[in-house]
Amino acid sequence: MHSSQQSSPPSPREEPSPAAPGGSASQGYDVLVVGGGIIGLVTAWRAAQRGLRTALADPEPGGGAARVAAGMLAAVTELHHGEQTLLGLNLASAARYPAFVEELEEASGRDTGYRACGTLAVALDADDRAQLRELHALQTRSGLTSQWLTGRECRRLEPMLAPGVRGGLRVDGDHQIDPRRLAAALLTACERAGVVFHRAWVRRLSVVRDRAAGAVLADGAALGADRVVLAGGSLSGGLAGVPPEAVPPVRPVKGQVLRLAVPGPYAPFLSRTVRAVVRGSQVYLVPRENGELVVGATSEELGWDTTVTAGGVYELLRDAHALVPGITELPLTETRAGLRPCSPDNAPLLGPTVLPGLSLATGHHRNGVLLTPVTGDVLAAVLTGGDLPPEAAPFTPLRFSGAASRPPHPSASLEQPV
Ligand code: GLY
Repeated sequence: MHSSQQSSPPSPREEPSPAAPGGSASQGYDVLVVGGGIIGLVTAWRAAQRGLRTALADPEPGGGAARVAAGMLAAVTELHHGEQTLLGLNLASAARYPAFVEELEEASGRDTGYRACGTLAVALDADDRAQLRELHALQTRSGLTSQWLTGRECRRLEPMLAPGVRGGLRVDGDHQIDPRRLAAALLTACERAGVVFHRAWVRRLSVVRDRAAGAVLADGAALGADRVVLAGGSLSGGLAGVPPEAVPPVRPVKGQVLRLAVPGPYAPFLSRTVRAVVRGSQVYLVPRENGELVVGATSEELGWDTTVTAGGVYELLRDAHALVPGITELPLTETRAGLRPCSPDNAPLLGPTVLPGLSLATGHHRNGVLLTPVTGDVLAAVLTGGDLPPEAAPFTPLRFSGAASRPPHPSASLEQPV
């Protein structure tokens, strides 16, 4: 949820959760969304489209982790052992992306920077190659499409790659979007759909007769709502007033990301996303059509720290340089760090909690941008009185509630081996 160009995030425990208001005590919303990152925005947009009177509380809607994220839609290249159930949700969302983008661009009049460019994951040494072969086997067993290429074939596709590339996986279905443009488009779409924005922090959840009933903003204004959706990214676990058994178990996982510019004479520098595991660390280069080249990302468990460090920048540049030596010629235009909201099983928390009236849309970890379309659809179904759709059933927050009041969906095992 939070991002910073330098360090010190705002104290999430003091203003527990992102949120809200604007002075007046608006009452009587059908839905109040707490948190205005891309997940909160898509939830509010979908709710408003369905005729629900919807408010969203966040001091800076459109901010958060989307300011930092590279925007890879990497369901296939970011597949991990033990995450086959999450893969189903990731693929469902990836499949919805083209229609989602078309609808959003039409609704907002804004370009989202969606680019169906594909991805090339490469290996730089024998260890990397063995790891990539393993990923290829996992993808094949999971019914996914990826193609093994020799180093020569990789360089034919992407001539800027290092001469030493030992092989790679071509994944034509893993695309990209510009998360900043996505957030701006969602913001406009929300405004056009009638979402009311309260630009302030939320101080606490209001609970009346054991039911979520709105929220109190930092200025003391009270917002009443029949249903509340907590979509506060990595800050979601800090909202006061949420009963302990309904508190989402999310923690921040820091990611440092760089932005470079590709001047005209160097273009096209890369034609698709290029990534690798270098010395055990993920590095990826995401080329935008507008000449921006995004290089990410560290993965650090450092609490709320969002300092951009010399070490983080050094490691990203070192690994990106090993992959594509020519990057040293490019202007470095921006460095940032953001916080991924991570749950205990790396999967999102979607839908109703044990507290009636309170739903969650958080915990998306590395997949927030990818999961934006499906999250909007899932929350819309829930907010209009429906059950959690089958594709989202494994991701019920009740799997962590301790109440065990409802077992996860039969196919819910996140540890299911292939
Ligand atoms: N999905 C890429 C990242 O979180 O770094």
